[in-house]
Amino acid sequence: MSEAGARRLREDHGLGSRLSRPPPCLALATLPTPLERARWLDDGAEVWVKRDDQSSALYGGGKVRKLEWLLASERFGGSGPIVSVGGIASNHLVALALFLQRTGRPLHALTFEQPLTPHGRMNLAALMSLGARFWHVRRRAALPWAWLGYQLWAKPVVRGEFMAPGASDGRGGLGFVEAGLELARQIAEGAAPRPGQIYITGGSAGAAAGLALGLAIAGVSTELRIVAAVERWGFNGLLLRRMLGQIFAELVAHGLGDSLGRGGVAGLLAGAGVTWSIDHTQVGPGYGAPTAAGAEAVRLAAQHGLHLETTYTGKCLAALRGDLRGGRAQGPVIFWNTHAGADLRRWVKPGWEAALPQRLARRVEALSLG
Ligand SMILES: Cc1ncc(COP(=O)(O)O)c(C=O)c1O
Repeated sequence: MSEAGARRLREDHGLGSRLSRPPPCLALATLPTPLERARWLDDGAEVWVKRDDQSSALYGGGKVRKLEWLLASERFGGSGPIVSVGGIASNHLVALALFLQRTGRPLHALTFEQPLTPHGRMNLAALMSLGARFWHVRRRAALPWAWLGYQLWAKPVVRGEFMAPGASDGRGGLGFVEAGLELARQIAEGAAPRPGQIYITGGSAGAAAGLALGLAIAGVSTELRIVAAVERWGFNGLLLRRMLGQIFAELVAHGLGDSLGRGGVAGLLAGAGVTWSIDHTQVGPGYGAPTAAGAEAVRLAAQHGLHLETTYTGKCLAALRGDLRGGRAQGPVIFWNTHAGADLRRWVKPGWEAALPQRLARRVEALSLG
């Protein structure tokens, strides 16, 4: 796509009619994404899949929904680097690298170690091949050191504009508010029944929080079951509430009507009958570490043409299958597939390993699984 094409604004979003001053949004995603019946998952309740993996031919999944709003904002409107945060196999960093390379903008990344599944290794290979530059530490808790190193390096050079981890902030979250409105339209058109539960995975909270608000604005009563991919200290009710507050503030700042905005987040969700709960049972040994149930869910999905991964969506599907088996999910259920599932091989350059920072290059083999 040409640079002009990459900067085409989206005029057809649902927030246009809900906000008196909607912020700009780039047309990066192919929307709406399909809603498909998934009989192979039925187990006492009917299951549907929201195919966000089809949200972009370049790199689908949930991230492009957030990037549509973020990259259109004044804050990210320049042509300099963008700096963000993630594991060395972060899907968020891959999405950002791919959407930035179309306009020749560099990606600077503050990174930490995570186990490298074959999928993760492919992500890392793509990031190196696309020219992403890492400021790397071993542990997530040491990220402030990566930040410090970056600040010192960037001072005489060009410091990137900072994008929140997972592209989750008030503006990025609008992408999932829009997703909630999109689902509401699909339900109204009869594409699927109103779900009793929606299963979505949670990392930096933007997707789930935005979706909850979008469904509430559209008046779709449902339960969001948020399956954590991250330990409790990294993702919990407090952080979700904070994200709900940030996205809500963004909506109000852009003219969410009084009738919806007056009662705050709690009033909006309660008024529409949108509830949420967080399930931490699938995290297993930690962020990025595959679990047996998650890996089995990935295998099952692959047999039915759905490409998941073991960090987020596999764990989410494992939780859904367990809840169906245990009778917790009454249905109808929507499984929200937030993973791109794109084949990244076309981006990978031979010899990409040479671009790794030295301290990471020494660790790649030790981190690699299967
Ligand atoms: C495939 C996938 N699904 C879901 C998420 C989590 O979304 P959020 O960070 O908005 O909670 C991520 C985050 O990187 C992801 O890569």
